[in-house]
Amino acid sequence: MQFQWYPGHMTRAKRQMQEDIKLVDLVIELVDARIPMSSQNPDIDELGRQKGRLILLNKADLADDAQNRAWSAYFEEKGYAVVRMDARSRAQMKPVHAAILDVCREKIERDRKRGIKNRPVRAMVVGIPNVGKSTFINSFAGRACAKTGNKPGVTKGKQWIRLNKNVELLDTPGILWPKFEDQRVGLKLALIGSIKDEILNIDEMSLELLSYLRQNYPGELRARYGLNDESEPVKLLAQIAKNRSCIKKGGEPDFSRAAYLLMDEFRSGIIGRITLERPEEETQ
Ligand code: G4P
Repeated sequence: MQFQWYPGHMTRAKRQMQEDIKLVDLVIELVDARIPMSSQNPDIDELGRQKGRLILLNKADLADDAQNRAWSAYFEEKGYAVVRMDARSRAQMKPVHAAILDVCREKIERDRKRGIKNRPVRAMVVGIPNVGKSTFINSFAGRACAKTGNKPGVTKGKQWIRLNKNVELLDTPGILWPKFEDQRVGLKLALIGSIKDEILNIDEMSLELLSYLRQNYPGELRARYGLNDESEPVKLLAQIAKNRSCIKKGGEPDFSRAAYLLMDEFRSGIIGRITLERPEEETQ
């Protein structure tokens, strides 16, 4: 999904979220493991105050595993529960379920002491567009899910997915708005494919990516494109164009075709598992 946000959208989304959050015990926030900081929205901290918080580092399959671990530690240090996952895999939902119960264990215990048994924990999923919210809800709820609001006699309004006797999930995710003010954030969102490519120049994006890869993932660049020198990004792009036959009629390198190829291969994980930001940069 590609998107553009305007102030009106944000106000509406925020108001909706304020209402929905009142109904839940726990906020499950998905971030993209390739850009865990840039795909977060700090407003959720304010909105989700006094609620349990679980961060899912999603698309962890596309991100650098050492960085996945570093980011998990970073968020845990801040007091969040964290699970790394690939939302497409139903097998990976077990630890998420365990983490939900763990985050809510005080509430469950409180209920138990009051003699309330089996009141499910209520959770909602939030995150910026394209981070994997719907995929996660589908995997997590599976086929066995029942939308409690659809049953006759159930009050209209919010639809809850009853996962089991322990957990209910609000069936529509909360869409968070990205932090566009910072240009670096905009660039990273574009690199992972969350902003329309037309908004940003693909050639420039690919040069930024090459510059980052050259510094942080030289082995992957070498293995995929046979780039074995430390040239400037523009030379690297020219070399990719040459190696992959992206050549214009007159024999000139077709930079744009090479840029699209590079972006496609990066986004689909073909170049390797790559993370575009590191926790130590965020704490400086
Ligand atoms: P959203 O509701 O937050 O907007 O995101 P959605 O679930 O629609 O997921 C967006 C895309 O990301 C989907 O790809 C989905 O398959 C993919 N995706 C979700 N979770 C993961 C994950 O953990 N790992 C990987 N590798 N991919 C994941 P799509 O339908 O093919 O769309 P697109 O990628 O062509 O945009």
